[in-house]
Amino acid sequence: MTAQHAMQNIDGKVVVITGASSGLGAETARHLVKAGAKVVLGARRLDRLQALVKELGVDNATAFQVDVTDRERVKALVDHAVRTFGRIEVMINNAGLMPLAPLEMLRFDEWNQCIDVNIKGVLWGIAAALPHFKAQKSGQFINVSSVAGHTISVGGAVYSASKYSVRVISEALRKEVKPYGVRTTVLSPGAVDTELPASVGAPGVNHAIADYYQHNAIPADSFARCVLFAMSQPENVDINEILFRPTVQEL
Ligand SMILES: NC(=O)c1ccc[n+]([C@@H]2O[C@H](COP(=O)([O-])OP(=O)(O)OC[C@H]3O[C@@H](n4cnc5c(N)ncnc54)[C@H](OP(=O)(O)O)[C@@H]3O)[C@@H](O)[C@H]2O)c1
Repeated sequence: MTAQHAMQNIDGKVVVITGASSGLGAETARHLVKAGAKVVLGARRLDRLQALVKELGVDNATAFQVDVTDRERVKALVDHAVRTFGRIEVMINNAGLMPLAPLEMLRFDEWNQCIDVNIKGVLWGIAAALPHFKAQKSGQFINVSSVAGHTISVGGAVYSASKYSVRVISEALRKEVKPYGVRTTVLSPGAVDTELPASVGAPGVNHAIADYYQHNAIPADSFARCVLFAMSQPENVDINEILFRPTVQEL
């Protein structure tokens, strides 16, 4: 992909990103702004979002504090995008956490949070953007799953269930929104260097995951380039899924 190709169909687009305060979301925002997009940054840590807006420029980016488990706030995020930049063309449902732990540890709060953020958060993002996409007869959903949405490991029951769900929801969504000219992309990364290992709370598991990431994870621009690739296709090309891993990752 040439740099010129990457710019096609991105310049001027308004892109809402949940989970934009760190990791994949923040890095994607940087790449999108370089390619000429306007980004609307959502997450709970407003100070992080504001620092990113400062870096990217107020003409290109705006911040909005949102907890994606709150359906009304996710709608308010999309409303903020439309109020600020006049429209929304891409919704990146990226916010997530990875509370890996064997089921027998009974980490109930983490099960709830994982389902509320990784599954319901994506549904609220779809619900918020869909009326706009339907009305304008165009738009693109980019929903973030994982390699864990394709394979299941010990300790990954709830996280994998959430990431398989993202694929299931996206597959149905893609079929349903075809009549409106809306594109649906699932991005499924392997280990990418972000703050995600910090969301593993289970004693023992957390150190193992941090160690694995330290030795195997690839930089977050790997993900951002996939977003740009999927967006930059002509409107009649719907990239449905990109699954990628570090070259060294066996799982
Ligand atoms: N990095 C990887 O290896 C990898 C692999 C496969 C899939 N993924 C997926 O990629 C996505 C992004 O993760 P990341 O790797 O970039 O990790 P990260 O650096 O920890 O970022 C996670 C983002 O999600 C946001 N978030 C978490 N809970 C939220 C909530 N309730 N409401 C709003 N925002 C919330 C966080 O912001 P606040 O804390 O400020 O709210 C943060 O911006 C996740 O869905 C993750 O499952 C990552």
